[in-house]
Amino acid sequence: MKFVFIGPPGAGKGTQAERICAENNIKQLSTGDILRHNVKIGSELGKVAKEYMTSGRLVPDNLIIDMIKEELNSPLYSNGFLLDGFPRTIPQAQAFDELLQKFNTKIDLVLLLDVSDEEIITRISGRRICKTCNRVFHVVFNPPPDPKECDKGICDIYQRDDDKEETVRHRLEVYHNQTKPLVEYYSSQSLVAHIDGIGSLDEVYDRIKSHFPSKV
Ligand code: AP5
Repeated sequence: MKFVFIGPPGAGKGTQAERICAENNIKQLSTGDILRHNVKIGSELGKVAKEYMTSGRLVPDNLIIDMIKEELNSPLYSNGFLLDGFPRTIPQAQAFDELLQKFNTKIDLVLLLDVSDEEIITRISGRRICKTCNRVFHVVFNPPPDPKECDKGICDIYQRDDDKEETVRHRLEVYHNQTKPLVEYYSSQSLVAHIDGIGSLDEVYDRIKSHFPSKV
């Protein structure tokens, strides 16, 4: 199955994507994670992307599209995938449709996670991530475990550079102006499932699950 996950920054896409993929044996593809990895290793892409990411702007479409084309070549995605953070603009969605057509395949479902801007600020300001296992936590709603209980050794918890309130407000603006138009784009193909993102992690997951096609 091929899913696209759309929602504002900090809506809980990454958190829910982890569970959806684990329970359905498909692979998560997060453009944000790939870009952060490139920034960390200092690749050419990472050097360019860093400036956009720290100021809360979108990385240029051509770089993202090339990155996705290369990534999706991997056999890791042959059983299906969930795209977390892509597409994010109409040109990205159009380029992705062309790519899928070439492979004679299509998206099965677009999940739209709906959370208000005020709640986003609360969620992102409390977000913490483990450098070792990459899991996402929240200081109040989903606290990080004892460091020794990390899946891959010792948890090393950090806060993302772009999670400062001012940057988050800019990311929200970018979402409303550049990414929200995708809802109309995919609605015209009858692909969108609207999910209320307010509630416990389990409640939100159950709502998402109720939209899955019978055979995922
Ligand atoms: P990216 O990494 O994609 O960030 P984002 O879309 O802004 O989304 P986040 O990762 O911030 O949030 P999330 O929805 O995954 O929420 P999470 O699960 O962590 O992109 C970063 C940057 O990279 C962009 O700004 C851009 O520069 C660049 N980029 C990436 N893709 C691009 C593209 N396609 N084109 C161009 N540029 C691109 O949850 C957030 C917090 O809330 C956590 O603490 C979590 O524990 C908590 N939480 C989750 N669910 C709940 C709940 N139900 N109740 C309470 N708390 C909850």
